[in-house]
Amino acid sequence: MVQTLTILGLESSCDDTAAAVVQKTGESKVEILSSVVHGQTELHSAFGGVVPEIAARAHAEKLDLCVVQALDAAGLSLRDMDAIAVTAGPGLIGGVMSGVMCAKGLSAATGLPLIGVNHLAGHALTPRLTDGIAFPYLMLLVSGGHCQYLIAQGPEQFTRLGGTIDDAPGEAFDKTARLLGLKQPGGPSVETEARSGDPKRFRFPRPLLDRPGCDLSFSGLKTALMRTRDQIVAEKGGLTRQDRADLCAGFQLAIVDTLAEKTRRAIALYLEQEPDDPVIAVAGGVAANSAIRSALESVCSHIGVRFTAPPLGLCTDNAAMIAFAGMERFEAGARDGLDLMARPRWPLDQDSPAMLGGGKKGAKA
Ligand code: KG4
Ligand code: ZN
Repeated sequence: MVQTLTILGLESSCDDTAAAVVQKTGESKVEILSSVVHGQTELHSAFGGVVPEIAARAHAEKLDLCVVQALDAAGLSLRDMDAIAVTAGPGLIGGVMSGVMCAKGLSAATGLPLIGVNHLAGHALTPRLTDGIAFPYLMLLVSGGHCQYLIAQGPEQFTRLGGTIDDAPGEAFDKTARLLGLKQPGGPSVETEARSGDPKRFRFPRPLLDRPGCDLSFSGLKTALMRTRDQIVAEKGGLTRQDRADLCAGFQLAIVDTLAEKTRRAIALYLEQEPDDPVIAVAGGVAANSAIRSALESVCSHIGVRFTAPPLGLCTDNAAMIAFAGMERFEAGARDGLDLMARPRWPLDQDSPAMLGGGKKGAKA
C-alpha cells in the first residue's frame, strides 16, 4: 500500500497568522493542499513597525480560524492528519507562544504527534518543497527580519556563512520608505519609485564590502540616505518627485551591489564543498525585488550555478513551509512533547557565533 503523510502546519512568529496542509504520497512530490495566511499589516500600520503585543493577541484570535480554513480548503479534517507542525521560534515571543499553545491544544485533544519547527528552517527548506532541490544547496534568506547565507546540508543541518550584523535588507527598505513618506511595506514602494529614478545621482555606501567574508550591514545605508534627504530639504525646502525617485534608485543599487558581491563570495565558499549539482536558492520577501533578483541571477549564470527562487507566496511567511519542514523532521523520526518551548532566538547553525540585533521583526539569529 502506498503510504500517505499529511501534516498540518501553523505559523505565527511575526505578523502573519497562517495554517496549511501539505501531503506526500509515496515517493511523489509533496503537494500543498491548502495554505491560508491572515496578514496583520493594517493593525500595525499606524505604529511604523510590528507591535509585539498587538501581534500576539491577533495571532491568538486568528489561529483557530486559520486552522479551520486550511482544513476546509484541503477537504480534510484533523483525523486525516499524521502530525501537527508549529513554528517554535525564532520570532516575537508572544506570537510564537500563541502558535505553540494552539498546536499543543490540538495535539493533546487528538493525540497527534507535535513537531516544533525552526521558522528559518521553514524558509531554508522551501526550495525542496517547490523544486525538490537536493542537499547540499546554498540559501540566501532576505526578508524584513532575516538576512543570511546558509549551506543546507540536511533537514536540520545548516552551516551559516554570514549574515547581517544589524538591520535586515527588508527593514532597510521599510525604513527608507518611511524616511521618504512612502507607504508600507517599504520594499515594493521603494522599488516602484526606483524605476523612474537615476541610480547614479546619489552614491550610497556599500557596507562591509571592504571586509572579507559574507557578513552584511545595512543600518549605515539608511543613515546615509537620511543625511542626503535632509541636505536636499535644507537646500531646496523639500523633495521633488524626481529627488525621491533618485534616492530610491541609489539606495536600491547599493543593496543590489552589496548582495551581488556577497553572493559571489558565498558561492565560492559553497563550491569548495564540491556539490554535484550546485544550486543557490533565494527566499524571503526581499527576493520579490526584480532588480535584486536579476542581479543574483546574473551572478549565478556567470559562475555557472543554478538559481532558483520559490514563488512569492512561498518566499514570504506562510505555514506550508512549516508543515513541510515538520514533515522532513517527522520522516527523520523527530517528535516533540507537550514540553515544547517557544524560543525567541534559535540559530539554525548552533556552531556559528550569535548575530547582533533583534530588528523590528524579531530575532534574526
Ligand atoms: O519574508 P517577509 O514577508 O517577512 C519577514 O520579514 O519575515 O518579508 C517582508 C519584507 C518587508 O520588509 C518588505 O518591505 C520586503 O520584504 N519586500 C521587499 C519587496 N517586497 C517585499 N523588499 C524589496 N523589494 C520588494 N519588491
Ligand atoms: Zn520569515
